[in-house]
Amino acid sequence: MSQHTTLRVGGLADALVHVKTLSELRSLVQFCRERDIPLFILGEGSNLIVRDGGIRGVVLRLGGELEQVNFNTTKVTVGGGVYLPHLIVQAARKGLSGLERCTGVPGTVGGALISNAGTADEFIGDLVQSVTVLTEEGEVRELSRDELRFGYRWSNLREKGLIIVGAALNLQPDEPSAIMERIHHRWRYRRQTQPVNQPCAGCIFKNPPGERAGRLLEAAGLKGVRIGDAQVSPLHANFIVNLGKATANDVLTLAEHMRQTVHERFGILLEYEVQIVGDD
Ligand code: EPU
Repeated sequence: MSQHTTLRVGGLADALVHVKTLSELRSLVQFCRERDIPLFILGEGSNLIVRDGGIRGVVLRLGGELEQVNFNTTKVTVGGGVYLPHLIVQAARKGLSGLERCTGVPGTVGGALISNAGTADEFIGDLVQSVTVLTEEGEVRELSRDELRFGYRWSNLREKGLIIVGAALNLQPDEPSAIMERIHHRWRYRRQTQPVNQPCAGCIFKNPPGERAGRLLEAAGLKGVRIGDAQVSPLHANFIVNLGKATANDVLTLAEHMRQTVHERFGILLEYEVQIVGDD
């Protein structure tokens, strides 16, 4: 899984399957259900730490018709496997604004919706009109806005077994050049404040209410601290970067050290923002 995650750590999966159509996806879900094989949906692997023992069962990636994008006036209908950075630029060229809040989020639409990605105070969930899911029973359901709940880096789409096959997002008309300017502005900020060119998994911890995890971690003296090849980024203390040969164990040991240090120093127990999966 180190080849399929942006942090570049993680052991082997039993199988990695790319599905290209909804019907292939349904067959695979049924196949796994009948045999009790666990199924893990992988997006871009950008908010994910896979442990060194890897993942038992099938790891699934959505492609083909599940990566389609259709614009209809101010609405865009997208597949769950769509790569968000491409969608943001496509929308900007069409003169549709809203997705700028996700600038620099290197994930899929499905992954972004599940974790309600965005900045610290603007989220993709605010754009959602509906989300189409495949249930564990193999049924396709469209969940309307009022069946969906989005919180800070949380959504009720995490409910067991739901696979996001697509979504309809509401955007706002605006000048393409003005939208592109906002995207560039946000990109510049990210490049200045985050280790965007090093293997990492985005922010490791959620911001506690009224605080910034990065600020607390820096104030606790953690910037630059290393375990093996896992290092607290000297640029942003809420990022762990892989200097080359880090293992998931190095990363998770370092993350726990960061958590404990902040707890001892400030009495705040940070909550993980990254998804951690797999066997030790
Ligand atoms: N700060 C420090 N030291 C650090 C890092 C940050 O003092 O090492 C301070 C900054 O000086 C600033 C404040 O903390 O005053 C906030 O920093 P920043 O603007 O970088 O935002 P953040 O709260 O750390 C959030 C999201 C990011 C998102 C950025 C930019 C969370 C956990 N993180 O970071 O999302 O990219 O805003 O919009 O909500 C992610 O979810 O993986 C992620 C990277």
